[in-house]
Amino acid sequence: MNKHFLHISDYTAEELWDIMNLAKSVKNKFHERENYPHFKNKSLAMIFAKPSARTRVSFETGFEWMGGHALFLGPNDIGIGKREAIKDISRVFSRYNDMIMARLFEHEHIIELAKHSSIPIVNGLTDYNHPCQIMTDIFTVWEHLEDIDNIKIVYMGDGNNIVHSWLHLAMRFPLHFVCCCPKGYEPNKDTVENAKAAGISNIEISHNPADAVKEADMIYTDVWASMGQKEEAETREKIFMPFQVNKKLMNSTGKNTLFMHCLPAERNREVTDEVLEADYSIVFDQAENRLHIQNAIMIKLSESYGK
Ligand code: CP
Ligand code: NVA
Repeated sequence: MNKHFLHISDYTAEELWDIMNLAKSVKNKFHERENYPHFKNKSLAMIFAKPSARTRVSFETGFEWMGGHALFLGPNDIGIGKREAIKDISRVFSRYNDMIMARLFEHEHIIELAKHSSIPIVNGLTDYNHPCQIMTDIFTVWEHLEDIDNIKIVYMGDGNNIVHSWLHLAMRFPLHFVCCCPKGYEPNKDTVENAKAAGISNIEISHNPADAVKEADMIYTDVWASMGQKEEAETREKIFMPFQVNKKLMNSTGKNTLFMHCLPAERNREVTDEVLEADYSIVFDQAENRLHIQNAIMIKLSESYGK
């Protein structure tokens, strides 16, 4: 195992399957509220430079269920990279805690945090990627479809951090992944090229929603303006409206198609209320699974790199 969980592509397909299988078993234990004191007397520092509901609550709930203590450090608590150098925070927390989960703006900052840390760092989202989310997403699709080999996943919207993690996953698991976005909002070029070069998956960038969704097993969307881009929301709304996931689009795939969204959703912008509430929408299974996948990730990291 890699020491940190920063990018899905840092792991082999076998390691990613190990995480998924472990998540399945800890999910059952959690549902039974079994005593599972894996992190007894351990602590997790959770650093948030951006807001969060799911990431905060799922990490805190999961770590505490496993017998440990999770500390929440919000945007005004540390001033990471402002009040104090990132490499100093790394070394100080490495003396107090057993693991760090961080949600930061700049991706370089989480790399820097990891570089100087003697304890595992888990990426809870950066401007560049969101690996815990996409491991959760593929786990959720696996639960629903059972066979995920070469399934067609169509992401509608902004070529953002969510897309980069899907592309990293597509470097390890065979998928047909289509990112359908307005021109000028494509994902990072190098990441797309690397994903294609890995030769595992069929990767497409499309600007045509009607074509892109044909035969899709799952359609995914995310907010049009991510955290840190909210001042662009109004301009983006006009550009992205043709990429909205609505009933007409969901009904035009030619097969039964699941709908997913990492949440939080801006209802009736990137997705209509009707789609979010439909039977084929699995967004709450998806949200729940954050807890179980992250528990599995933290257990695996601690087994390899626990103090
Ligand atoms: N999906 C997700 O990461 O949600 P939060 O921003 O609420 O943590
Ligand atoms: N792309 C979104 C994901 C939120 C979970 C953002 O970065 O705000």
